[in-house]
Amino acid sequence: MARSVDVKISHKKLLIEILGILLLAQGVAAVTRTYSFNVRLKNVTRLCKTKPLITVNGKSPGPKIVAREGDNVVVKVHNHVKDNVSIHWHGVRQLRTGWADGPAYITQCPIQTGMTYVYNFTVTGQRGTLWWHAHISWIRASVYGAFIIYPKLHVPYPFPKPHKEATIILGEWWNTDTEKVISQALQNGGGPNVSDCYSLNGHPGPLYNCSANDTYTLKVIPGKTYLLRIINSALNDEMFFSIANHSVTVVEVDAVYTKPFKTDIFLITPGQTTNVLLTAHPNTSLHHHKNFAIAARPYATGQGTFDNTTIAGILTYSKKKHFNFTHFKNSTLPKLPAFNDTSFATNYTLKLKSLANAQYPAAVPKTVDRKFFFTVGLGQNPCPKGFKCGAPNNTKFTASINNISFVMPTVALLQSHYSGKMKGVYKTNFPDNPPFVFNYTGTPPNNTSPMNGTRAKVLKFNSTVQLILQDTSIAGIESHPLHLHGFNFFIVGQGFGNYNKTKDSPKFNLVDPIERNTVGVPNGGWVAIRFRADNPGVWFMHCHLEVHTSWGLKMAWIVKNGKGPLQSLPPPPADLPPC
Ligand code: C2O
Repeated sequence: MARSVDVKISHKKLLIEILGILLLAQGVAAVTRTYSFNVRLKNVTRLCKTKPLITVNGKSPGPKIVAREGDNVVVKVHNHVKDNVSIHWHGVRQLRTGWADGPAYITQCPIQTGMTYVYNFTVTGQRGTLWWHAHISWIRASVYGAFIIYPKLHVPYPFPKPHKEATIILGEWWNTDTEKVISQALQNGGGPNVSDCYSLNGHPGPLYNCSANDTYTLKVIPGKTYLLRIINSALNDEMFFSIANHSVTVVEVDAVYTKPFKTDIFLITPGQTTNVLLTAHPNTSLHHHKNFAIAARPYATGQGTFDNTTIAGILTYSKKKHFNFTHFKNSTLPKLPAFNDTSFATNYTLKLKSLANAQYPAAVPKTVDRKFFFTVGLGQNPCPKGFKCGAPNNTKFTASINNISFVMPTVALLQSHYSGKMKGVYKTNFPDNPPFVFNYTGTPPNNTSPMNGTRAKVLKFNSTVQLILQDTSIAGIESHPLHLHGFNFFIVGQGFGNYNKTKDSPKFNLVDPIERNTVGVPNGGWVAIRFRADNPGVWFMHCHLEVHTSWGLKMAWIVKNGKGPLQSLPPPPADLPPC
């Protein structure tokens, strides 16, 4: 008797379980997240200077996009400013949705004044912190925001669940109009004016002029753990970042989980994101004060000037609502490396490894179909006769990949590719190797002026690619944070000097290399990356130091359609902006 009751109960239990699974399945079903972005001018005051700023919905940083892995994201962008705009969802893979990627003249024509465009895409196989920003000229100086992807419902993080989380976006501010800054620089050929301050979530903080009351503040409770999502949205500066008297554990970069590791300081290039766990000290009475500086300052490797200032915010254990930041002292700042501390940068970068476990494997291509060697770097062009130019020795700065300085087309590459009308728009003869071999990181040869052109590299669907990115010393070595649209790649190797195939390739890490969308090519060095071309479309690759992009350090990959039903690029949406 007792036995049959048992059986009955277990049947009931089973039923409840099945019901639970059904509910769960419903719970994990993807949803659509809809946003409306109104790009409009707003008078904004920072450093006691007021200027009309291009914002999204009146804010800079703009709204945070929040989705779960698998969700559909729909953002209707209305352009109410006189400038053309387009928005890029930095790091979102855009599988078969290249029309929604956003770089102006690459995947779409910009959204003109008074026009709208709906970006519609699904977040597939990614979770973590990404971001979005305008992708035309320097408009992204103020048009940017966070893009947070939570894991699927009921899927935990591969690290202890944080008590709370916070997003910190590093930004850059100019007192003057940034469109004028870059257009003047391009005209006279010299380096553009550097920014007047950095900001954390838009706040310059206590170290800058009249900004003590405009400070980013993070309140914490003793003993609790916080997930900090840090985004570097600066235009032209890689940043060292630290919190006084606190170490953090890095757990994710560019929306890919990492093997966790502790550090006091981390490095983040424009375009990169870093998630860290911060555990608040259990007993703050051990400390004299309850406030600690969150600070960042640039890692600068080039020859030119840069904004050599420090941005600070406050981590506070205090329950008080208001603080007097005017008493904030430089001495309470965390130790940050010197601006040119390449050895710190290298040591830190080498610590980053993919989690590479059964649930989150590192799908690094073990073999490759195509091998490319691209030089990346700055150069100088002669000054037009009768003019005075701003770069050293009366020249104009330029930048190139394999000695080709990319010229922006006037129609979108993806449209010409899709319609088969590439004539007069772009050529497919982007070189596999530099046009001539030289000592890339040694004394540069003469006559290195790059060619100008709009050239792309064509890849077969699903081909595996190895790309060596080699910095050059032509106009001085410099670290270049290279960003690839449409893909994540694995950083299988890096080093200083010239890449040497025989010596360097046997040392490649094909087990747990870090996977990301933006990599710093070491100043006077190289990185080796691998990716699978499994996303049909046209994909921009460029330096995420905006000034270098402006000078031409960019190119495009074209990934052809595959033969399978889900291996080709669908037609463009009806509202794709015209040029
Ligand atoms: Cu974050 Cu092509 O850019």
